[in-house]
Amino acid sequence: MEFGWPWRHWERTDSTNVRLRELAAAGAPGGTVVTAGEQTAGRGRQGRSWTAPAGGALLCSALLRPFDERHELLPLAVPLAVCEAAEELEPSVRCAVKWPNDVLVDGRKLAGVLIEARPQDGWAVIGVGLNLAIEPGELPPELRDRATSLHTAAGAPPPADRRACVAAAARALSRRLGRWCAAGREEILAAWRERDALRGREVAWSDGSGVADGVDDRGRLVVVAPDGRRLVVGAGEVHLTRA
Ligand code: BTN
Repeated sequence: MEFGWPWRHWERTDSTNVRLRELAAAGAPGGTVVTAGEQTAGRGRQGRSWTAPAGGALLCSALLRPFDERHELLPLAVPLAVCEAAEELEPSVRCAVKWPNDVLVDGRKLAGVLIEARPQDGWAVIGVGLNLAIEPGELPPELRDRATSLHTAAGAPPPADRRACVAAAARALSRRLGRWCAAGREEILAAWRERDALRGREVAWSDGSGVADGVDDRGRLVVVAPDGRRLVVGAGEVHLTRA
């Protein structure tokens, strides 16, 4: 599947995921991409909001259609595409993945993914927010220690032309999404395991804690509990409990 055609851009909209869901419901073809310069109601995982200064991030939603049982590992495949796109744009950067689908550089969040799927209608909207050119001072104070942007991570000056930088990122991500949405399970799992930022780290989630031990064949997080039991976490979010 190829992404990037058709491609609709809004200078300002509430959420690219919302725009693309509407287009999908109206019959938009698989591969449709929506980008925005700025979102007024960007959506994050777990009902949170997602904010980015205007023009500083790639705010992108891509329509996977058909979407079916072959895509069980889509939540792992998408961040792999984001890692590769970021590394294509800044080859000195090495990205890692944090289950379920964050992209990190040096332990700080570079990108987030929000997949909104309608299996009964055979489509999924893949939303990606990738920080490209955001100065640390432009991030909300509570995120300054936990988030980064691509040029900061690369130690590079901010891009002279932010718009061109965002467009290049959209093209790189579209290409990589095409590859990873079509990839087989083994390839996805192997690539994920190579980039896994949590393996061996102590983590906590809503009702437990333990040491992360990778993902199982269905993409669930495996955790070894303090009593030695191996648990699987299928949904939600985990937090690192120590540095
Ligand atoms: C997360 O919470 O980490 C996921 C954030 C996903 C944000 C992106 S920005 C483009 C797309 N449109 C949205 O409203 N959300 C996603």
